Amino acid sequence: MSACFAVAEWFPHLANQPSPVASPRKTLTRFDDYREMLSDAVRMEAYREAIAAVVRPGDVVVDLGAGLGILSFLAVRAGAEKVYAIEQGGQIELARALAAKNGLASRIEFIEDNSKRVTLPAPANVLLSETLGSFGVDENTLDFTLDARERLLEPGGRMIPEALELFLAPVELPEDHSRVAFWNDVEGFDFSPAIDELMSRMSLSRVAPGALLSEAQSFYEIDLRTHREVTLERKLLFQMQRPGVLHGLAGWFEVALSADVSFATSPSSPSTHWQQAFFPFRQPVSVTPGDFLEVVFAVGPKAEHSDDTRVSYDYRCTQRANEGKAAQPPVPSPVARNAPCPCGSGKKFKRCCGRA
Ligand SMILES: C[S@@+](CC[C@H](N)C(=O)[O-])C[C@H]1O[C@@H](n2cnc3c(N)ncnc32)[C@H](O)[C@@H]1O
Repeated sequence: MSACFAVAEWFPHLANQPSPVASPRKTLTRFDDYREMLSDAVRMEAYREAIAAVVRPGDVVVDLGAGLGILSFLAVRAGAEKVYAIEQGGQIELARALAAKNGLASRIEFIEDNSKRVTLPAPANVLLSETLGSFGVDENTLDFTLDARERLLEPGGRMIPEALELFLAPVELPEDHSRVAFWNDVEGFDFSPAIDELMSRMSLSRVAPGALLSEAQSFYEIDLRTHREVTLERKLLFQMQRPGVLHGLAGWFEVALSADVSFATSPSSPSTHWQQAFFPFRQPVSVTPGDFLEVVFAVGPKAEHSDDTRVSYDYRCTQRANEGKAAQPPVPSPVARNAPCPCGSGKKFKRCCGRA
């Protein structure tokens, strides 16, 4: 465990090496994954409500990443005349059978392919998708969604979800970090190169609210109806609010499925199958209140035309006392933007008077 650096200095292991790279979870085709998603009450309730509010009788809907077809079925229930259910995974025959079993086969056309290769006879009225990873965009969500928006949706068409916000926070997670530390010594051998491999995969963690060492920062706000970049990069500055041991960053998202339906996967939100993302630092760092942590974080496609997502992060930690005037003030917390709007609308400030 190393203490925070008194003088601003990049951690040496990151200064000389490429940033860690994380791949997304593998395509979700396993039966248990679908059962977990279909029994996630937060997810299902939100999608059910948003689809009922957004899809109108007679609509043509694209369901990007249809899985077993549940969102297509809900779209038909909401009145959709035709749903194109696009799924690249292996369960499409079962999805077809489920549609037939429920008398929906005539209104749903299943297409077994990656959405980027699909063309439609005419643009749809609604683009519906749930391809969210634990850090929101880590299943190449942006690349697929923006491509489908441009090619498969009518101009100005409705989208579910319509906006996404990603958050990061420094965390103390000793048990999760022990998976990293384990590789330093295996039977007396130096297995530390395995750490690079481990850090190249985003891990999942159930992060308790008490694990946070400072307030979360908003990493990115994305309006999916207008957003264009598939790679997101930002520098964030955190100020520690309690003493502890910094093991890395936790990440999560808040998604607006429609104007009135949203949910979050934060440590203090009702639990979901997404849990939270964990981006471990190589070494734990002792921190005290007032210390600053500066992070440059990026997420985007691994390569052009790649279906894999790349996550990279560099970080440096500085002690507040010795930084004096050189230290930047902490970035204003975005959390207040999640508070109820003072105008009394009942909406969150950021979705009401605080809209960017
Ligand atoms: C999280 S699951 C959701 C399944 C289903 N829509 C639901 O809500 O239960 C995402 C699904 O999208 C599929 N998928 C992801 N990206 C895709 C793409 N670009 N084209 C086709 N299928 C995709 C995956 O194979 C996976 O089955």
